[in-house]
Amino acid sequence: MNITANPAELLTWYDRHARRLPWRVPPEDRAHGVVPDPYRVWLSEVMLQQTTVAAVRSYFEAFTKKWPTVKALARAAEEDVMKAWAGLGYYSRARNLKKCAETVADDFGGRFPDDEDGLRQLPGVGPYTAAAIAAIAFDRKAAVVDGNIERVMTRLAALETPLPQAKPQIRALVEKLTPEGRPGDFAQAMMDLGATICTPRKPACALCPWTSHCAGRKQGIAESLPRKAPK
Ligand code: ADE
Repeated sequence: MNITANPAELLTWYDRHARRLPWRVPPEDRAHGVVPDPYRVWLSEVMLQQTTVAAVRSYFEAFTKKWPTVKALARAAEEDVMKAWAGLGYYSRARNLKKCAETVADDFGGRFPDDEDGLRQLPGVGPYTAAAIAAIAFDRKAAVVDGNIERVMTRLAALETPLPQAKPQIRALVEKLTPEGRPGDFAQAMMDLGATICTPRKPACALCPWTSHCAGRKQGIAESLPRKAPK
C-alpha cells in the first residue's frame, strides 16, 4: 500500500485551521517559542479518553483554574477531585488522575517522563495516551492512532480490511507517515481533519488538503470507510 500524501501539506493546513482548544498552544505562539505544558497535555488526554472535545472543554478549564500544576493536583483532596470530575463519567479515570499526579509530584519532582515507555508506567496512562503525550508534549515521533485517525488513514489508503483487523495495517501506515518534525501537531492535525473534514458521513473532500492523494475518494468509496466487521 502506497500513500503519496505529504505530512507538510497537512501541517500547513493545520497552521490555518487548527481547532482552538484550551490545552493547545496556538500555532502563532508556537512560532514564538511557547511550548506545551506536559501537565495540561496529560490532563486533556485523560479527559478525552472516553469523552468528546465539546464535553471536556469546560471541565479542563475548571481543573486547570483550580489546580494549575501537577503538584497542586497531587495535594488536592481526592474528594474535591471526584467532585470536579462529576459528569465526565468513567470515574476510575479520576482516581487514577489523582494517583498519577502524586506519582509525578512525589517520584519525579513534578516533571512528567518525556518518552512513551516512561509515560506508560504512570497510573491511567495506556499505550494511546502515552503516544499522544509523547508526541504533543515532548515532540517524540510516536504513532498516535485514535478513531478519527483510523478513518482518515483507511480512506487515504482505500484500505478495505474491516476494523478491528485493519488496526495493525493502520498503525504501520501512521508510523510511516508521521514526520520527524512536529509529530504532535501532525497527530492533532489528523484528529482535526477527521473531526471537521473527513467526517464519518458526507466528508468535505473539496476542503481537504489531501484530496488529490486520497485513494478512497478516487475509487468513490471514501464515505464507506472504514469498513467494520459484523458483530
Ligand atoms: N482527542 C484526543 N486528544 C485530542 C487532542 N489533543 N486534540 C483534539 N482531540 C483529541
